[in-house]
Amino acid sequence: MERRRLGRTGLQVSAIGFGGARLDEHPDLAMATVHRALDRGINFIDTARAYGGSEEHLGNALRGRRAQSILATKALIEDPDTTLQSLETSLPLLGTDAVDLFYAHACDNEERFAWTMRPGGALASLEQARARGLTRFIGISFNHFLPFQDGRSGVDRMKALIETDTFDVIQVPFSLIRIERVEQEVLPMAAARDIGVVINFPTADGLLTREWGVFRPMFEPYVATPCQAALLYLLLYPEVTCVLSGMSTPDIADENCAVGSIVASIPVPVRADLLRQVDALGLGPCRSCGRCAPYTHGIPVPQIMTYHDAERRFGIQAARQRYESYRDQVMACSSFEGADAVCPEGFDVLAEVKRAYA
Ligand SMILES: NC(=O)c1ccc[n+]([C@@H]2O[C@H](COP(=O)([O-])OP(=O)(O)OC[C@H]3O[C@@H](n4cnc5c(N)ncnc54)[C@H](OP(=O)(O)O)[C@@H]3O)[C@@H](O)[C@H]2O)c1
Repeated sequence: MERRRLGRTGLQVSAIGFGGARLDEHPDLAMATVHRALDRGINFIDTARAYGGSEEHLGNALRGRRAQSILATKALIEDPDTTLQSLETSLPLLGTDAVDLFYAHACDNEERFAWTMRPGGALASLEQARARGLTRFIGISFNHFLPFQDGRSGVDRMKALIETDTFDVIQVPFSLIRIERVEQEVLPMAAARDIGVVINFPTADGLLTREWGVFRPMFEPYVATPCQAALLYLLLYPEVTCVLSGMSTPDIADENCAVGSIVASIPVPVRADLLRQVDALGLGPCRSCGRCAPYTHGIPVPQIMTYHDAERRFGIQAARQRYESYRDQVMACSSFEGADAVCPEGFDVLAEVKRAYA
């Protein structure tokens, strides 16, 4: 398993990290899955107060093996004032006196951004947790399809938080089907400030686990399954420290952990060449910035355009299910007045969206 330095924390973490969000899916297999992942070389484990029974499963599984793990959890997001209490609830469930990394969870919109950064807000609580020795390092995490608000996209908010230079680690969504396009500015900016970069949502919620699409000839010389290709792609970026993979069975742990060893066997120039091959496929015009949302009558244009592009450009047939349900709503629509004026790509937004259903 390749190990990478988690930015300024100096921690050496496994290139594949254990995503703990899905441990409730097969509770009877949770302990075996965690143990299999540790046995396969994983040492970085990610969970959150919001992931149901995940922390408790991990606490049970790590009994006697805590020293083998670098453990991260995230605060509940309902209210920044509960950030510290959230960690105090997590620690006994995790069976530990302190975690290695504590995140503010899902800083996805302007309200959460303000909550995080205001005096006495979530960041202050993270810093207090660190000062009290309840965590060694602090981070901030994001989901995908982030809203455009107060003149800023989700990527703009990520960049603004990186610029504060207060977080040791940033956790961002990224996959072969690019949604927020973090690779263009966010990853290099974090790397330049020596901030660890952890990736979530690596298979676009399972979309990339069952179909190769057009990626097969590029990745098949190295990996055995589409899911492995999706994980490997992200590890080709030198700025990426760790890719979190949501594992719910020991078999999935075997398959996904293997990618951490596979990447180690690929020489750096070959990694760069693979990235160039994927880049050469291009991307659709919609950057999921969300600027058009106020004008589209509740129709989620970034979702439709992204999943349509995944189907058309990348040949992922299952992507259609992710936007087909909006067909009648889109076809019945006669105007997105105002949307074209704000679209940074300058396209006729309604015409483009209708084309997805042609
Ligand atoms: N805002 C945040 O902070 C945030 C947001 C999202 C995620 N995360 C973190 O990132 C981790 C990874 O995200 P995720 O769990 O959503 O995504 P993921 O690892 O891409 O898993 C998503 C889906 O892929 C399936 N899958 C995974 N490996 C597979 C394989 N080898 N073969 C077939 N199917 C496979 C899973 O199936 P099963 O359902 O069968 O397990 C699951 O449905 C999370 O567990 C969590 O720790 C953080």
